[in-house]
Amino acid sequence: MKHSITALCVASMLMAGCGEKAKEDIVEKTNPTFLQLAKDRFSVRYYTKTPVEQEKIDAILEAARVAPTAKNLQPFHIYILQSKEAIAKINELSRCAYEAPVVFIVCYDKSKAWVSPFDPGDNSGIMDTSIVGTHMMLEAFEQGLGSCWVKFFDAREVAAAFEIPENHTPSFLLDVGYPANGAAPAKPHFEKREIKDFTTYK
Ligand SMILES: Cc1cc2nc3c(=O)[nH]c(=O)nc-3n(C[C@H](O)[C@H](O)[C@H](O)COP(=O)(O)O)c2cc1C
Repeated sequence: MKHSITALCVASMLMAGCGEKAKEDIVEKTNPTFLQLAKDRFSVRYYTKTPVEQEKIDAILEAARVAPTAKNLQPFHIYILQSKEAIAKINELSRCAYEAPVVFIVCYDKSKAWVSPFDPGDNSGIMDTSIVGTHMMLEAFEQGLGSCWVKFFDAREVAAAFEIPENHTPSFLLDVGYPANGAAPAKPHFEKREIKDFTTYK
């Protein structure tokens, strides 16, 4: 979703002396709010072979970089698979790599993650990487790309296949690429509970 068209539309409306309300409607449609972006994103499971431009990969990684982490310890490490060999290998290891041209393996280092004194057996790695992944997924969408968050893989097998050091635990995969023609939200995308069904005010 690029905003240059918005700027052009708004500029021409201003010159034409259009009303404030119409201007707001156009900005709303072409420059969506966060909530609209969050609602419009869906999991993509069919991709074209078109390579993803490095600038777009950089933007996704920048979104990862600025994600909040417990105590700002930033315990994450990201492997970027895009070579033919790496993509073939990840597709052998997970049926949910969906032949995407880029697959990120988002890992955390449990020795660097925050440990709560209230729960010393746990660490913040999964939480930290989940926020990192959410930033990445939404930035991918903002860049006009599709993505799919994937947990269907054996972390030990993937770590071994890509020679990921022991201190990096794979948390999830994020498939990214241009959606194939006809890629559309699957049924579960529309099956979201109502707010009243998952909230309790006290
Ligand atoms: C933690 C997590 C794990 C997921 N694992 C998989 C997976 O292994 N394979 C897959 O195709 N989709 C996976 N998904 C995508 C979900 O199925 C999808 O987000 C959900 O059905 C809602 O659809 P939507 O993303 O289109 O809104 C996963 C999503 C999350 C958040």
